[in-house]
Amino acid sequence: MRKKLVAGNWKMNKTPSEAIALVSELKPLLNNDEVDVVFCVPAIDIIPVVNAVKESNIKIGAENMYCEEKGAYTGEISPAMLVDAGVDYVILGHSERRNYFKESDDLINKKMKKAIEHDLKPILCCGESLDQRENGVTLEWIKKQIVEAFKHISPEDALNCIVAYEPIWAIGTGRVATTEQAQEVCHYIRQVIGNVYGKTIAEQMRILYGGSVNEGNALALFSEEDIDGGLVGGASLKPEFAKIVNYKNSSN
Ligand code: 13P
Repeated sequence: MRKKLVAGNWKMNKTPSEAIALVSELKPLLNNDEVDVVFCVPAIDIIPVVNAVKESNIKIGAENMYCEEKGAYTGEISPAMLVDAGVDYVILGHSERRNYFKESDDLINKKMKKAIEHDLKPILCCGESLDQRENGVTLEWIKKQIVEAFKHISPEDALNCIVAYEPIWAIGTGRVATTEQAQEVCHYIRQVIGNVYGKTIAEQMRILYGGSVNEGNALALFSEEDIDGGLVGGASLKPEFAKIVNYKNSSN
């Protein structure tokens, strides 16, 4: 049985003091042992947020990381810095990083390997544009992103990775994928993982859906067979996030 995971991706939101205020508001609402909860926060918020979630089950993730150990990479954050600060997860290959910062599959693969070396759990994002969906190339695009990201990663290490399917057209648009669309691609991702690593690993790996997840659609999405939770953007910045984590209590 795969445990559900709901991760918030704060993106470039919340100053350190705003971050502490948000965590204080959310923390008492997030006592749910059935779901793993992760806050992926801006680098400057990591230390205050790690302190603010103490004595809770909430884990902290970074939104990005560089693929080198240390050195002359002005502005970048290393995996050792994240680990030392108390981070367990790291989002890699988000479409905003692929599109605005031109991150390639090759760079994302290097980051995946480096994160794993430091025992960070990558949350690898993949997803197609509206154009790609309309042109019927969604599945082949997703397959390429997954295969390239997992190159030279061993089966044991792959088990510590999480994949998030985030159709670009559903991110921040309020236009959520239908449960059928989300399930179809998450199922396909599991098949691709199965082809690379075998069925046992594919059955254990957690695959999330992201893109306009809210309190009204979380129950339907997370009830699909291959959707093991969500990567939540906008709604993770509000008390609504707790309703998404506690989706089973929702009346929808
Ligand atoms: P929204 O939930 O705001 O659509 O963002 C999704 C996302 O990009 C999470 O990584």
